[in-house]
Amino acid sequence: MKNIYSNIFPFNKKTLNKMIANLKKGYVVGLPTETVYGLAGNAYSKESVKKIYSLKKRPHKNPLIIHYLNYQAMQNDAVINDDFLKLYEKLCPGPITFVLKKKVKSKISPLALGKLKTVAVRFPSHRIIRNLLNKISFPLAMPSANISSRVSPVTAEHVAEEFKKKIKFILNGGRSKVGIESTVIDLTGKPNIIRPGIIDPQRINKILKKKINILKKTKRIKSPGMFGRHYSPGIPIILNKIKSSKNNALITFGKRYKNRKNYFNLSKSSNLLEAASNLYKILRKIKKLDFKMINVVKIPNKGPGIAINDRLKRAAYK
Ligand code: TXA
Ligand code: MG
Repeated sequence: MKNIYSNIFPFNKKTLNKMIANLKKGYVVGLPTETVYGLAGNAYSKESVKKIYSLKKRPHKNPLIIHYLNYQAMQNDAVINDDFLKLYEKLCPGPITFVLKKKVKSKISPLALGKLKTVAVRFPSHRIIRNLLNKISFPLAMPSANISSRVSPVTAEHVAEEFKKKIKFILNGGRSKVGIESTVIDLTGKPNIIRPGIIDPQRINKILKKKINILKKTKRIKSPGMFGRHYSPGIPIILNKIKSSKNNALITFGKRYKNRKNYFNLSKSSNLLEAASNLYKILRKIKKLDFKMINVVKIPNKGPGIAINDRLKRAAYK
């Protein structure tokens, strides 16, 4: 498809250097990751962080994830513990974010952390962002590249649609393979998954050799961004349906659903990883086709299905 957006650039040496120059100047850019596309700025710069919040219309109390090449690059900002090291060794770089205690000497702009004493860190695996992180001396504050409460983007075009000309540079890294945001696990106390992702919680139990909590509410608000309406495509969503009238869309799962104009199958082979990868793309497509309502069949609540149901529930939240 021809690129109709003048602010989307292919990845090469020249555009990478341009990106780096822009980030150094304090600008905010759109970047691919393996989960979803991000809106990136220098995490050490208050000005960059301010721009991210204002572009996204994001409430200031909702902190950002800070992205590094590897944990060595993170050592001045966050306190490492045993659980972190075990998970890092097996799962990084990859689609998981760790909440750790912030170091007092950290240079991360307090604005990026919602003034919390903790910091969420991630080590993305996408080749383009690793290339870039390797060439800069500061970490990237990078929320998903969507206006607050809307569906996260999984292509460079989605990012351009969200922000139009308000961001000058978006690097095209193809479609994000994972398709939903990273797993967020709080490691400041008993490990607690505060945002499920495609990593099976059983796998984390095995690596840590202990049972972790999933979405356990604790006294203090652990993930300010996890409440209320989120991931909304802008039209009503109804869950656990088995059919739908022609005027409304039906999101299906598995081979028993026929091909119909208003049916959108997350995975014909009932593969939950494939379903996660297709979810946001399909939500955006349905909205574009002008359906007024979305029905969704029941999705198995195991492995990546936990994350899919989490996102659907939030998208359906009234
Ligand atoms: O896959 C991803 O994680 C993507 C890509 C771009 O890396 N990023 C992403 O960022 O999803 P964002 O800002 O859309 O979501 C970050 C989530 C929010 O729910 C936020 O509240 C939570 O992480 N979070 C950030 N810092 C936190 C902290 N210190 N404690 C608890 N939760 C935190
Ligand atoms: Mg987000």
